[in-house]
Amino acid sequence: MITAETARFILRPFAAQDIDFLDELHSDPLVMRYLTGRVRSHDENLVNLKKLFDLEEEHGIGQRLVIRKEDNKPVGRCGMSFFYGTEEKGTTAYYLDEKMLPDGATSFRMFELGYTFLRQEWGKGYATEAAAAMRDYGLNIQKLPEIHSVIMQENVGSVAVAEKIGAKRLGECRLLGNPSWDYLSQVSFGKPKNIEEEA
Ligand SMILES: CC(C)(COP(=O)(O)OP(=O)(O)OC[C@H]1O[C@@H](n2cnc3c(N)ncnc32)[C@H](O)[C@@H]1OP(=O)(O)O)[C@@H](O)C(=O)NCCC(=O)NCCS
Repeated sequence: MITAETARFILRPFAAQDIDFLDELHSDPLVMRYLTGRVRSHDENLVNLKKLFDLEEEHGIGQRLVIRKEDNKPVGRCGMSFFYGTEEKGTTAYYLDEKMLPDGATSFRMFELGYTFLRQEWGKGYATEAAAAMRDYGLNIQKLPEIHSVIMQENVGSVAVAEKIGAKRLGECRLLGNPSWDYLSQVSFGKPKNIEEEA
């Protein structure tokens, strides 16, 4: 099942055989630098993949494998996760998992659009193309009311992608304790294309 198609990519849900790609992607310290700050082991990727399947089954959202049409190779992942926010010292602090929240914290959950590509594929406009497609899919097809992108301020490449797809910077926040920006995409910010019509 294809979620979205763009000029250069097919985006589809992950399958069990995609573990090799996750192992390759998440073993690069530069790729992981502004995600969790450390590489992921094979076992951690298996847990991660199971989480993706559960998210898909329960909520119909999740990361998509980005496959380059030209050679049928996976080059990255892009899509929606849940982030968990709580107020800490006058700022919203975001966590990737409910279990990471401080004990007893009052929290809320929101849709977060993320994108991660193999290092050798950076700088070709891939993240912008895939993120715009998943943003359109989320807002137009899944009818999500709003989509956030929470980005560490030092991650200038990711900030550039959010700006390029027209997300609006809401303000400062913290992600895993790091100074970050909270970006927002909503239907009212523009007229996202209908991917089903385009495909
Ligand atoms: C961030 C990331 C997804 C960008 O992917 P990409 O495919 O290289 O991005 P694009 O080619 O679509 O670039 C979009 C814009 O950002 C700019 N950009 C990308 N990386 C940049 C960097 N490191 N420094 C400055 N600008 C950068 C590009 O020049 C481009 O702008 P332009 O068209 O005006 O030249 C990629 O570097 C990556 O996978 N990083 C590791 C994972 C990660 O941090 N994900 C984001 C978590 S919030």
